[in-house]
Amino acid sequence: MAPSSDRMVPLLLTLLFLCLGGEAVDRSNFKTCEQSSFCKRQRELKPGQSPYRALLDTLELSDSRITLQLINDNNKVRLLLELYRLQGNMTRVKINELKPIKPRYEVPDVLITDPPTEPMTLVAQDENGVVLSLGVDEQRLIVNARPFRLDIVEGPKVLVSLNSRGLLAFEHLRLRKDTISHKITSTVGSMWDSIKSVFSSKHDSENGGGSENEEQGEDEDIQPVKEEDDKPGMWEETFKTHSDSKPSGPSSISLDFSLPGVDNVYGIPEHADTLKLKSTDGGEPYRLYNLDVFQYELNNLMALYGAVPVIISHNTERTMGLFWLNAAETWVDISSSSTGNTVLGKMMDLVQGSNEAPHTNIRWISESGIIDVFVMFGPRPNDVFAQYASLTGTQAFPPLSTLGYHQCRWNYNDQVDVKAVDEGFDEYDIPYDFIWLDIEHTDGKRYFTWDPNKFAQPKKMLQGLMDKRRNMVAIVDPHIKVDSGYKIHNDIRSKSFYVKNKDGGDYEGWCWPGSSGYPDFSNPEMRTWWASKFAYDQYEGSMENLYTWNDMNEPSVFNGPEVTMHKDATHGSWEHRDLHNIYGLYVQMATSEGLIKRSGGTERPFVLTRAFFAGSQRYGAVWTGDNAAEWGHLKVSIPMCLSLGLVGISFCGADVGGFFKHPGTELLVRWYQAGAYQPFFRAHAHLDTPRREPWLFGPDNTALIREAIRQRYTLLPYWYQLFYNAHRTGQPVMRALWIEFPEEPETFAIEDEYLLGRDLLVHPVTDEGAKGVTVYFPGKREVWYDVHTFQKHKGAQNLYIPVTMSSIPVFQRGGSIISRKDRVRRSSACMENDPYTLYVALNPQGTAEGEIYIDDFHTFNFEKEKQFIHRRLHFSDNTLSSSNLDPDSKFTTAAWIEKVIILGASRPTSISMKTADGTESDVEFEFDSATSVLTLRKPGVNAGADWTVLLK
Ligand code: NOJ
Repeated sequence: MAPSSDRMVPLLLTLLFLCLGGEAVDRSNFKTCEQSSFCKRQRELKPGQSPYRALLDTLELSDSRITLQLINDNNKVRLLLELYRLQGNMTRVKINELKPIKPRYEVPDVLITDPPTEPMTLVAQDENGVVLSLGVDEQRLIVNARPFRLDIVEGPKVLVSLNSRGLLAFEHLRLRKDTISHKITSTVGSMWDSIKSVFSSKHDSENGGGSENEEQGEDEDIQPVKEEDDKPGMWEETFKTHSDSKPSGPSSISLDFSLPGVDNVYGIPEHADTLKLKSTDGGEPYRLYNLDVFQYELNNLMALYGAVPVIISHNTERTMGLFWLNAAETWVDISSSSTGNTVLGKMMDLVQGSNEAPHTNIRWISESGIIDVFVMFGPRPNDVFAQYASLTGTQAFPPLSTLGYHQCRWNYNDQVDVKAVDEGFDEYDIPYDFIWLDIEHTDGKRYFTWDPNKFAQPKKMLQGLMDKRRNMVAIVDPHIKVDSGYKIHNDIRSKSFYVKNKDGGDYEGWCWPGSSGYPDFSNPEMRTWWASKFAYDQYEGSMENLYTWNDMNEPSVFNGPEVTMHKDATHGSWEHRDLHNIYGLYVQMATSEGLIKRSGGTERPFVLTRAFFAGSQRYGAVWTGDNAAEWGHLKVSIPMCLSLGLVGISFCGADVGGFFKHPGTELLVRWYQAGAYQPFFRAHAHLDTPRREPWLFGPDNTALIREAIRQRYTLLPYWYQLFYNAHRTGQPVMRALWIEFPEEPETFAIEDEYLLGRDLLVHPVTDEGAKGVTVYFPGKREVWYDVHTFQKHKGAQNLYIPVTMSSIPVFQRGGSIISRKDRVRRSSACMENDPYTLYVALNPQGTAEGEIYIDDFHTFNFEKEKQFIHRRLHFSDNTLSSSNLDPDSKFTTAAWIEKVIILGASRPTSISMKTADGTESDVEFEFDSATSVLTLRKPGVNAGADWTVLLK
């Protein structure tokens, strides 16, 4: 049967898209700073010429905030500065126009609460400035009036200076010159007018003032605003064939930050580049603008799918964070220099003798919105993570199954194919938890539907998987086929839930289904409606073991500017420009709420997203998008996921094997070995690539891949415990070495190895033909045990570790206890009640410490009813004990401890086990003097019980 024309369109579109771009990214599809008019305008400003002055007589100090007006002496526009001291050693600085002609966007839904404040006190004030006490550790905030500058100091040290280079710039909202003299007749004009009148009355009452004109009459100090000449791109901008109508005109903002003594900065994902951020002097800034970049390049600061505007600074003394809460297109410049050429800067140099000291300057530039920045003062890495988590929340605690292995490709063709792949895992004895369906499973790219021929009985398919205790993920993208026969589209249209174009009609763009509408996920009503579509009776064919993948949510618009949405499209009264970078977060938020609701609030959801923003960690996992089957892409997956972990997003992975192109067997095997030790472990491949199931590369390679996946499954108890801790505390699961060794400069730029939690050091093999890897073992006082051979290595040294094709260099820190499940089965659920083996790795003092965490592995009962087991495992004085970390917790498990393996032990004469009821019994053991490994067999205690093992 010939395909209907309806089906031809997407097919042609798919082919067109696949053929676009050739081998590497077509850079000309994406703007440089020079081509982004606000970035160009901002970057033309020269340091050291700040026109801003603080009007000290406007200072108002209340318990929780300080406000102060700033004036731009060139154009007389006033800004309102708000300062807050936040609980937990943070300061918030907000700057907005004092009287904008209409509201400027303030990012909602990212902060989990209105951050609690602490009092500040005025210490000194004269005509040059103000000094405030921030209450802790002799921290003071110094406001310098002319030019305006903020310094936050602790004792004699400057921690951070704002506007010390004079790059604060606020393009105030204005009326277009030609519209001032003509009557505004356009829709936008009248919309603007009505917003203006509503806003000015609200704003006036909030700020205790009358209208701008009234106030000008009353206050002789207020001089009329002097409009500067328009500059190119202020009112309209074209890029390739696209024009941006800019109904609000110029609105960009910028601010510089100086960090004396700092020469390591990290964060601002997503870029396919180094972990440690580079200087952008003389080059392009880092760009944060969620984009669907076809065949992205490595070592490039171009924007990718997600954006988290957080920078973490670090030196041996202190770790700090800057969180720039703005969802518009943003560029970040980073450079190193001396303290700055202002008089105060030079004085600071003199006082601190810091002329020689390293120094980092950071400058943020955003297209619209306000300046709203959180300075997190640490001082330790863990403090910064806790501070950021207190603002934006922590990693969603995923169901255990989602930490297993995921088998994906674009596409598994039909139910028969799914069944065959599923059976392949059994035949080759490889565990897996999830099989994935990409866009071809739908009825003509209509999400929430199934292809009637290929997936005619989805429930039967899902039941088949469920019988084997396995699961499925199906894709649900946020572009909706414009088709009057498609209920989802009709409902969205009739409820007016689509994003609108600049003329007020539904915005339409091209994506997989052909012409598509884009639901306005920034609208809470829309999100509630979307969430309701995941109910079992709404999403036909869905069952409890079906989870969701949100792709293309930057959003991707094939025929849009830079393959995304037009900036002058509207979301209610906001332009897309204002909130672009948060759109993807909203899609995942609504989807994850849908999965929670469908179970009546009991089951933990799993949603994978490609686009993300600050706070996305609360809604599930992210992956690094369309990488390629190349060694460089395997390597970069480590810094990419480490950068995400630093800014709260722990559940990260890269397509194992590479999405584009076909990997050679060596690369594929090495990728499985690396992926098995990254948080989100999914193989995925492009539609055009040959099939890649793990058994298609000959028995030897199948065995190597099987072994890598099995290692993942044995460590699931540790992964689960790390995710529980990430959920509770905000500490990353996958950690750059410097997080655990902040005083060791050797670790600061390492990005080819990392730690899982505190205790597992991983150095995957990422070079072709490698015969060995050079591992840096951190910590002067540490020892590390090879988890396969139990060989012990001293810390604070580089060591060449020879490898074969079966090697995955992983080392356990001396002083730690890690729980594993060494009997691997078909899926994680099948291992639910299997026994644990404890790996106790002794440090040179003969002690070790660890945790074990157990719950039902899939519901919210751990949170709602404290249904969990969380125990401390401790070894010292030849005694190993398990004690309850949370006396209120209640959960029982059938799992028991079947083995304890003590590394770095000496031979005991006997071993006895004492349980809570006082019973004592002998424990069988073996000691290997060549490796110093002591193995206790069948201690026979329940994993949730109190017990003590005594080595005599
Ligand atoms: C783009 C995604 O990045 C990729 O993973 C997916 O396979 C295709 N879209 C098709 O849905």
